[in-house]
Amino acid sequence: DDTKAGVKGLVDAGILNIPKIFVRPAEDLAAEELNSGHKNVEVPIIDISNIGDSIRRQEIVNEVKIASGEWGFFQVINHGIPLSVLDEMIEGIRLFNEQDLELKKELYSRDSAKKVKFHSNFDLYTSETVDWRDTLQLTFLDSDPDPSQMPSVCRFYFLISLKAAQDSRNQNISLDRSMYHQRKWLPFVGKSTMEYFKHMKKLGETLFELLSEALGLQADHLNSVGYSKGCSIVTHYYPPCPQPELTLGVRKHADAGILTMLLQNHIGGLQVLHNGQWFDIHPTRGGLVINIGDLLQVLSNDKFKSVKHRAISNHIGPRISVACFFSGHASLLDKPFGPIKKLISEANPPHYEEFLLKEYFAKFFSSSLDSKPPIDY
Ligand code: SIN
Ligand code: FE2
Repeated sequence: DDTKAGVKGLVDAGILNIPKIFVRPAEDLAAEELNSGHKNVEVPIIDISNIGDSIRRQEIVNEVKIASGEWGFFQVINHGIPLSVLDEMIEGIRLFNEQDLELKKELYSRDSAKKVKFHSNFDLYTSETVDWRDTLQLTFLDSDPDPSQMPSVCRFYFLISLKAAQDSRNQNISLDRSMYHQRKWLPFVGKSTMEYFKHMKKLGETLFELLSEALGLQADHLNSVGYSKGCSIVTHYYPPCPQPELTLGVRKHADAGILTMLLQNHIGGLQVLHNGQWFDIHPTRGGLVINIGDLLQVLSNDKFKSVKHRAISNHIGPRISVACFFSGHASLLDKPFGPIKKLISEANPPHYEEFLLKEYFAKFFSSSLDSKPPIDY
């Protein structure tokens, strides 16, 4: 039952030495992979305001192309999503994780079929070592989140919307269990997370247009196939760690999906591997971190790179991040998946054989973050 309290439960219990299962091998903790390379470069930051101007758009497409091919990562700024939407999302995740443990435990699950769940390390039972973080997962494969059909998610929406209501009315509402059971809060349901989700989908479509153009395809190519559909939100809460030099928030991995859009608070810790060196992705106020997943590397026939990254842990915290994973519309699960045909020619043969997304994801979710990814690259 202790695991249901998550990593935050350990911190709340006042531990000074982290349990052995969190201690990573020394080579995983190193600041560098190799002793080569220079560090006077930065993860690209792309300003997408004025995207409607055709000359500027061409420049943005070029920046996206270079960033996706060389780094697999970039930050977007001036994307038009109000700061308040981003701040409320982070605040909601903080409130969720810091609420009464008994309430939080009710959402605890390791069932892969559950759409909404709280847990610590999805691979707790398949990995030898686990990471310093707790996770709240919201999976909406091909539909918009509909709170009326997902009773278990309501408390989460409730906390966020209650906070928003509290801020706007400037009054002190305490988070009271009886209110939840009486569902007095239903009229508030959803405001912030629904807003956030709506903005993620819209920005996602814009990014898939830019990525299509960067591949030399029609702007609507990736959107029309349904790759910008099927978006799940995975939120991480990284408590402050008493021995951050021994563990990681997230160990080195590449993302298995198509595209990831990540919001992070001000604490920092995300690093990307570039030319054998770890580069910090500095939190940028209002910025969102975008990265290419394994499946987009396959679609692009290696024009875009899915790059390894990790999050280091920290004495201070919590660090909070909200990842939006695009993995394609559910109707694509049964269809063959491989490099985009228009990108293939005699001079450019496919680097991957076709496979079924359904099998790919089944393999991914039954393995651990340490194991080989479902496809070789
Ligand atoms: C992840 O890459 O899985 C999480 C990244 C983060 O929290 O910054
Ligand atoms: Fe990741």
